Amino acid sequence: MRNTIRTLEKHKQEGRPITCLTAYDASFARLLDASDIDVILVGDSLGMVVQGHETTLPVTIEHMVYHLEAVFRGTRRVMLMADLPFLGDRDVLTALEQGGALMRAGAQMVKVECNGGHTELVRRLAGSGIPVCAHLGLTPQAVHRLGGFRVQGREAAAAERMQAEARALEAAGAQCLLLESVPEVLATRISHSAGVPVIGIGASPDCDGQILVLQDVIGLTPKPPRFARDFMADADSLAGAVAAFAEAVRSRAFPESGVHTFG
Ligand code: KIV
Repeated sequence: MRNTIRTLEKHKQEGRPITCLTAYDASFARLLDASDIDVILVGDSLGMVVQGHETTLPVTIEHMVYHLEAVFRGTRRVMLMADLPFLGDRDVLTALEQGGALMRAGAQMVKVECNGGHTELVRRLAGSGIPVCAHLGLTPQAVHRLGGFRVQGREAAAAERMQAEARALEAAGAQCLLLESVPEVLATRISHSAGVPVIGIGASPDCDGQILVLQDVIGLTPKPPRFARDFMADADSLAGAVAAFAEAVRSRAFPESGVHTFG
């Protein structure tokens, strides 16, 4: 039986941190499925991790479906989330078509990068039976608009806007939120006030769950982001590193405040 959105909601209710990692192929997906990771994200980070680009912008819906199908074939237990790629949100019809393609390829939830103006799109996706995770904070598809991979929501007005957007997206039907590179205090506030599970990356140990890019966790990224931790450094196998990540998240030892989070 696969984990579902109900699994994540139950974790939030019971205060049990949700564990998520990315995967892009069947081999790594099998490794995570055999561990006790709750969710795999087939992220458009595949553009950087697998394809070697500097950003996620070159990733297309065809790339996403190809990698998601491989991950789906390698799994039976984990919940699968997948990214709507760059410009998949250009209009509602495109978002429905691309979201639908991801669902048909095995996604149980579609992650949409939201940086203002996505409420109606999320309402339409959710209304059509496409479960949405709304990604807030540093949204990598907007890297050039943001002027780099930078922490978001540091100024009071930006923090207020992000909180209001989180509330609006939840009201529009988002069943999960993901906060990336957001000051710890703000991430904690959003997580505590949201009715849906909130997953963090460079956010707060008090989020309902944590996600990292698998290659950062197993020491394969030459210059990993500050919010990541190489769990392979103290493990003697890939499975051991994944288990150590899951254990550190569940015991709230990771992320460490001030080390993997931002002020
Ligand atoms: O694409 C991705 O892998 C992501 C995570 C870093 C959250 O969006």
